[in-house]
Formats: sequence, C-alpha cells, structure tokens
Amino acid sequence: MAGALPSSPVTIVTGSSRGIGAAIAAALAGAGHRLVLTARDGERLQAVAEALRGRGTEVLVLPADLRDEAAPATIVQAAIAHFGAVSAIVSNAGTAPADKVEHTTPAILRETFDLHVGAPLAFARAAVPTMKARGSGCLLHLASTAGLRGYPFTSAYTAAKHGMVGLSRALHAELGPAGLRVYALCPGFVDSDITRGAAAAIAARGKTTAEQAFARMAAQNRIGRMHSPAEVAAAVAMLLHDRPAGCVYDLDRATPGFVDASTS
Ligand SMILES: NC(=O)c1ccc[n+]([C@@H]2O[C@H](COP(=O)([O-])OP(=O)(O)OC[C@H]3O[C@@H](n4cnc5c(N)ncnc54)[C@H](OP(=O)(O)O)[C@@H]3O)[C@@H](O)[C@H]2O)c1
Repeated sequence: MAGALPSSPVTIVTGSSRGIGAAIAAALAGAGHRLVLTARDGERLQAVAEALRGRGTEVLVLPADLRDEAAPATIVQAAIAHFGAVSAIVSNAGTAPADKVEHTTPAILRETFDLHVGAPLAFARAAVPTMKARGSGCLLHLASTAGLRGYPFTSAYTAAKHGMVGLSRALHAELGPAGLRVYALCPGFVDSDITRGAAAAIAARGKTTAEQAFARMAAQNRIGRMHSPAEVAAAVAMLLHDRPAGCVYDLDRATPGFVDASTS
C-alpha cells in the first residue's frame, strides 16, 4: 500500500520467501503493515521484498534459520531497532516431513518441533515483554488441521502441529489478560510447494501420478478442495485486523470459525 502511515503496524512474517508466507506478506502489505520478512533463502526474500517495496511498503529483510534457537530474539531486536516496535508476529515457517512411523527418527521429530513449537515460543519469549509494556500485540501461529486431527504418514508433523495448537492455547490463556491476542490458524491442505512436493514424492513410489495424489489430498479437506495461499492470507489479515475473541481458528469448514469458543 503506498504511503503507509508512520503508526502502521509492524509485523514479522516468518517463512515469507514463498508459498503461504509470501501471500501473507502481500496481504498485510495491502493492509498497510510495515513488514519484517524472514526465511533461510535471502535471495528469494529480497525478490518478495522488492515487489512489496514497489507498492510502497516498508520492508526489512532478515534471513535466518529458525532451527537456531537464538534467531527469533535476534530478529525481534533488529525489528525494534529498525521500526521502533513490533505489533504482530506471524509464525508461518515450516516443513512437513512425510513418511512411515518406522522411518521417523528422533532427529526428524526434534527438527520438526524446533521449527513449529520452539521457534514460536522463542518469538513469544523475545517479544512479549515489549508487547506487554505497550498493552497490545498479536502472536499468530500458522498451524493446520493436522493440529486438530491425525493424518497418516505424518507422525512428526501432526505431533508438532498439535504442539503448536497447545502452545497457542496456553499463551492465549496467559497473555489474554495482558491485552495480547494469540491465534492458531488451521487450514487443511493448501496448494503450495509443500503439497506439490508431497504429491511428487508419492508419485515417485510408482503407484499413482502426482495429479492423482494432489487430488486425493484436496479430497481430505472437509471443504472438498485445496485452500489457496491467498485464502489463508486473507484469514491472517482478518484475525489481525478484526481481533475476534478466540484462539484456534479452523479454516477447513464451510463456515470457518473458532473450534471451541468456550475453551480456546
Ligand atoms: N501447504 C499446506 O498444505 C499447509 C497446510 C496447513 C498448514 N501449513 C503450514 O503453513 C506454513 C507454510 O507452509 P507452505 O505450504 O507455504 O510451505 P512452503 O511453500 O514450503 O514454505 C515454507 C516456508 O518456510 C520457510 N522455512 C522452512 N524451513 C525454515 C527454517 N529452518 N528456517 C526459516 N524458515 C524456514 C521456507 O523458506 P526457506 O526454505 O527459504 O527457509 C518457506 O518460506 C507451514 O507452517 C505449514 O506447516 C501448510
């Protein structure tokens, strides 16, 4: 959005070099946010940032590997040094290892938890003191329906996404009284590199085509089709701007909404 106001929100979007994260960055730029973009691939981040700057958005690019437990605090400090504040953090970065349980090693489990639970917790640790001092702030975690129910061949991912949903519920309960909002957004399968890669991997085993595997994933969504990255990004923008009460938001419904208004 051209000419963002000096008081416009400052939002960190992790995993914004492609896929859902890049779509979230575009949607928030359109809503007037100043942005901090982070992922490992600095070149792809710069390309996303240049496109947004061309539309008048202020963007800070901070490449990082979020498996490094020190990275979130470094990013929060750099964002505050540059913009003066952090209004919201969208923890979207993730990988989705898919394999039989027999092949799911402790190293895969640790790495998946580091990214989906450890990094959001480290961002909260770093940003909550300044958010509490301002009496406002939002932590939004890109979870999944894999955080609400089980899918085969995804034991590490499904466990980590359940962990992410649990973390969100705990932070919502702890930080809500201080005026902070915490959301876990749960889409079903989304058309992105993760799903295209998974479909290609299934096809490589020789029993089906990538197109058929992709269609079977889409059919597992209750809405009967893939979500688009733009649809997920619109839900992020809605949660950040409308500030609805609640925590765990299920996008894979004919009418998306909070899973349990009384407990989440
Ligand atoms: N696609 C789906 O069907 C689906 C459904 C529900 C939820 N989700 C969730 O949505 C989020 C985004 O998924 P996506 O589909 O957009 O995946 P994607 O296209 O593969 O993008 C993943 C993003 O995360 C970044 N990333 C991965 N590992 C990282 C690391 N160690 N440190 C920092 N950044 C890292 C990637 O950038 P670099 O490689 O440059 O680091 C990339 O920007 C994930 O949390 C995923 O679990 C996806």
